[in-house]
Amino acid sequence: SIAFLLALAGGYLIGSVPFGLVLTKAAGLGDIRAIGSGNIGATNVLRTGRKGLAAATLLLDGLKGVAAVLLLRWVAGEQDLVAGTAAVLGHTFPVWLAFRGGKGVATGLGVYLAAMWPVGLACCAVWLVAARVTRISSAGALAAFAAAPLLALLLSDAEHALLALLVGVLIVWRHEANIRRLLAGTEPRIGQKG
Ligand code: G3P
Repeated sequence: SIAFLLALAGGYLIGSVPFGLVLTKAAGLGDIRAIGSGNIGATNVLRTGRKGLAAATLLLDGLKGVAAVLLLRWVAGEQDLVAGTAAVLGHTFPVWLAFRGGKGVATGLGVYLAAMWPVGLACCAVWLVAARVTRISSAGALAAFAAAPLLALLLSDAEHALLALLVGVLIVWRHEANIRRLLAGTEPRIGQKG
């Protein structure tokens, strides 16, 4: 249907804006993809030593998820599953960067906050606690997105649990290199250059 296509295209386009890359370029830091993990997300922007830029990247990438869900609810009716998944796909596979984008953590959290706020808050809490305890950003993200499908089943509904499953699989897959480093004990702590 038109609503489905709108949610798919709209969610993807909103998600595909690479704020980490744009902000670091604008700040004269060169190409963030040549630094640290090579990722365009807030964790890697923090490796430049610019905390404000990292916070702005986290916020703006998160707002993409919020905007995709809320804007497309308004335009196309309730399309959380399609719009939310598409936003994370846009961030991870942006056409503008030859489909080589980020890992979807901030955008995924934004999607959850807008689509099912109790689950979104719980995931943010899991993420913050796990990242604080381990001092590893990817460990926090993996814990939060692994917990989300069950949290969604308990606190939301089956459609949103499917959203959390799809986004979760995508995000875990995008963390393949991080998982390998975590298992090898070489994943850098937050703020470390890696
Ligand atoms: O949110 C991305 C984070 O989980 C990992 O980022 O740069 O350490 O691969 P990075």
